[in-house]
Amino acid sequence: MNPPGCSIALRGPAATLTGNPFEQPSRACLATHDDALVVIENGIITAFGPYAALRDTLPASIEIVHYPDNLIVPGFIDAHVHYPQMQMIGAFGAQLLEWLETYTFPAEMSFADAAHAQRVAHLFLRELLRAGTTTAMVYCTVHPHSVDAFFAEAERFDARMIAGKVLMDRNAPAALLDTAQRGYDESLALIERWHGRGRALYSVTPRFAPTSTDAQLDAAGALLKTRNGLFLQTHLCENPGEVEWVRALFPARASYLDVYAHAGLVGPRSMFGHGVHLHEGDFCTCHQSGAALAHCPTSNLFLGSGLFRLFDAVDPRRPVKVGLGTDVGGGTSLSQLQTLNEAYKVAALTGHRLDAVQGFYLATLGGARALGLEERIGRLAPGTEADICVLDPKATPFMDFRAGYCSSIEELLFLLMTLGDDRAVRATYVAGRRVYDRERAGDPFMPAVPSQE
Ligand code: GUN
Ligand code: ZN
Repeated sequence: MNPPGCSIALRGPAATLTGNPFEQPSRACLATHDDALVVIENGIITAFGPYAALRDTLPASIEIVHYPDNLIVPGFIDAHVHYPQMQMIGAFGAQLLEWLETYTFPAEMSFADAAHAQRVAHLFLRELLRAGTTTAMVYCTVHPHSVDAFFAEAERFDARMIAGKVLMDRNAPAALLDTAQRGYDESLALIERWHGRGRALYSVTPRFAPTSTDAQLDAAGALLKTRNGLFLQTHLCENPGEVEWVRALFPARASYLDVYAHAGLVGPRSMFGHGVHLHEGDFCTCHQSGAALAHCPTSNLFLGSGLFRLFDAVDPRRPVKVGLGTDVGGGTSLSQLQTLNEAYKVAALTGHRLDAVQGFYLATLGGARALGLEERIGRLAPGTEADICVLDPKATPFMDFRAGYCSSIEELLFLLMTLGDDRAVRATYVAGRRVYDRERAGDPFMPAVPSQE
């Protein structure tokens, strides 16, 4: 592993989003170089451009890692994922509410054991990096130590991660319930411990309206005011039965989104998972407030929740910010490539064509914008954090064969988002350090040494 603080440059074909392809022609939003150089110092990209233009600016001592047959892109951003659900991904035969009762809550109960939380956090971080994902917005469980386990593991890689303790004070097994006060106190202690420590950021995390009383939702709103830069994540309008239930539980509210708005939870750092059954008025509210939606196509298909109307959400007349979420374990893969594969099909079923530039926007710069982190992550650009994924469009014999019929980077990107998965990730860099290398003998992961502060 290249040590912290040193300089490194990655050379090879590269692509990065530069604009929003839902608002401008796709071609105008993608910068590509057949032979690029990404220069990194102290974890930050200091230069990105053609190798021929930059090579003479490099210090003689710099290490250049050459990926001539690969494609260097920004690290992927997963806008919605549950790390405690790794053990029940692919649970058979239920829609959301039954799935939660039958599979999800029992799995989350096993996180009462802190050692179990640590084991799963260890596996989860590595699976994210193997998939080329360098930032994720993560639900932990109701147990505070599940958050400690996650952030401690993320810190080993110096990864920019957003996470929080799930808040639930009703309609779940007693072993998973907190109270409005306890959830507030425990969240505040976690915020003080983790928010802004290294690259960690905290998200206040009421699971969804049915499992929180008004008092707990209000407490979540109060938590958001305790520090600058806190996030809010929850679920919204995922499944018809869930939407009905919220209507019955909150008869005084105008809509599901209004339940959250009433508690002060709808703002520019709010990320709502799903939004499959939103109405035009809700899209307007999201647009006006700056709140974002996480599109989770593998989950919406697997749980039979419905088809997210992505192109309605991002309508340039009142665009809503959208990120791409795997939603494991309702979702079926941690790979953003696989998630884009399903996003394309959901778009097709709703009468739209999600091109490769739009797809990679959702998984990189669009996700960063949805999180308000576009100055830091989501692009290959000077001044941004060097979180990078090196893709291999010829990862399998079949992909190698198919790639022979591609004549542009856009076509290769579309091939990757259709046939690609974690096998197509050659290497992952976090803050300029190579933390995953598919070709490395033995352990392909290289955890960063925890800092000594
Ligand atoms: N709604 C409330 N909790 C969950 C969850 O864990 N997963 C999904 N997909 N939806 C939810
Ligand atoms: Zn979810």
